[in-house]
Amino acid sequence: MEQRGLGHVVGLGTWRTFDGDERLAREVVGAALDAGCRVVDSSPMYGAAESSLSAALEGRREEAAVATKIWARSVAEGREQYRRQLEWFGRIELEQVHNLLSWEEHLEWLEEERDAGRVDRLGVTHYGPSAFGELARALRTGRFDTVQLPHNPAERECERELLPLAAELGVGVVVMRPLGAGRLASRDPGPDRLALLADFGIETWAQALLKWTLSDERVDVAIPGTTRPERARENAAAGAPPWLGPEEREYVAALAG
Ligand SMILES: NC(=O)c1ccc[n+]([C@@H]2O[C@H](COP(=O)([O-])OP(=O)(O)OC[C@H]3O[C@@H](n4cnc5c(N)ncnc54)[C@H](OP(=O)(O)O)[C@@H]3O)[C@@H](O)[C@H]2O)c1
Repeated sequence: MEQRGLGHVVGLGTWRTFDGDERLAREVVGAALDAGCRVVDSSPMYGAAESSLSAALEGRREEAAVATKIWARSVAEGREQYRRQLEWFGRIELEQVHNLLSWEEHLEWLEEERDAGRVDRLGVTHYGPSAFGELARALRTGRFDTVQLPHNPAERECERELLPLAAELGVGVVVMRPLGAGRLASRDPGPDRLALLADFGIETWAQALLKWTLSDERVDVAIPGTTRPERARENAAAGAPPWLGPEEREYVAALAG
């Protein structure tokens, strides 16, 4: 799998996937790691996903880059989330402020944790274009190392300001919802139309969508979520070149409707 600024370019999301089901977490996370994924994204917002993830990483912690989040209005609540995360994961490779919630309040203590070496990078996330102005403002402080945002053929708003800004500032880009939260993934155009993309190592529609976003070199890692080990393997396989050119990207966008 190709590696960029945040490591291997296909990771794994954990929203509405295994929640508290540790057995399923071991299967899905294990399949993703075996297939070369490293970044696993979670959040205190995702039910019991973080604790299930920690169980899934038993004996494999070194293979993963844990990207989780602080989702808290107050610093006290955020610190409590972080305390549990350190118990689960030992250290955090990427700590993100979820949906910009109280981001200015959290920055100072998070920077202290990064300086102390318990966190490698700090990031900030949001899913909605109405918050992209605020996301840009947060990035312009120069205090975040990464941004997480949606990017797929039906959600391209980040191309206007955030992707150019991230490139200009040297901020890493994590793509949430690369499959349109499953909506785009379910619009499989069928084998005949996909056959035109075979030269790009694309065998499935989900792989076409993943390659669509990863073919933008400003994107560092895409984190598709899945409940199925075989799909984790399928998605990971989209992380290798060749990448799509402008024409093929337009073709995939047209197929996505
Ligand atoms: N504000 C934020 O910070 C924020 C917001 C949203 C998401 N995120 C993060 O981004 C991650 C990804 O976003 P997402 O999970 O919402 O959406 P997504 O990755 O675009 O899509 C996930 C959906 O696609 C399906 N899927 C996965 N692989 C597939 C394949 N190979 N073929 C067909 N269908 C496939 C999954 O169903 P199956 O389970 O049946 O495979 C699931 O329903 C999340 O898990 C989360 O970690 C962060």
